[in-house]
Amino acid sequence: MTVQVQARASEVPDRGVPGAKAGKTPGVRETPPPGPGELPQTPQEIEGPFFRLGAPNRSNLLEPGDEPEIILSGRVLNEKGTPIAGALVNFWSSNSHGDYDMVGYRYTGYVVTDEAGRYEVTSIIPGCYQPRNAKHFHVKVQAISRPITTQLFIEGEPGNTDDEYYNPDLLVPCTIDENGVKHGTFDFVIKQFTEEENVTAETLAARV
Ligand SMILES: [Fe+2]
Repeated sequence: MTVQVQARASEVPDRGVPGAKAGKTPGVRETPPPGPGELPQTPQEIEGPFFRLGAPNRSNLLEPGDEPEIILSGRVLNEKGTPIAGALVNFWSSNSHGDYDMVGYRYTGYVVTDEAGRYEVTSIIPGCYQPRNAKHFHVKVQAISRPITTQLFIEGEPGNTDDEYYNPDLLVPCTIDENGVKHGTFDFVIKQFTEEENVTAETLAARV
């Protein structure tokens, strides 16, 4: 039997570093400014207390009885705008009541980008929970890089700009189809380690 445990952010003592509105959260690693001709890297955001290792590989995060409410898609690019195939994009969010599954993997899953660097995931629109005012998805993105931890906010949902961690650069523009399903598009930009950065005399020596 699987035991399901729900956790609310308000019940967790450490809710993350308090941040300032308008996209600057103290304690979150800042990305360097883009070089000439480079795309700005996706801003990072707090991980929060509910990340769990071991997420299943799936693009459909719906639970039995759910109707699709949002389809998120886009690409993972490097800072030069080149699509990254095989990048891992890991999503986790609360359910519609603002509760996170801390035992199972409801509303959690990762996908791997295709040859064109594309990802797509279908889910519900998460609920809100105090102290957060914005409905949000947590995301980790990784290729040949450190994992980038961030959050996505959904255009048209209430509370975005009231949220302590809201960053307009993480707002996903959405269209709504005839069934009321939101379609949001967001490209992640992450820096890749280059071969040049990776090679040292020691690593070369170890490659014999
Ligand atoms: Fe959260």
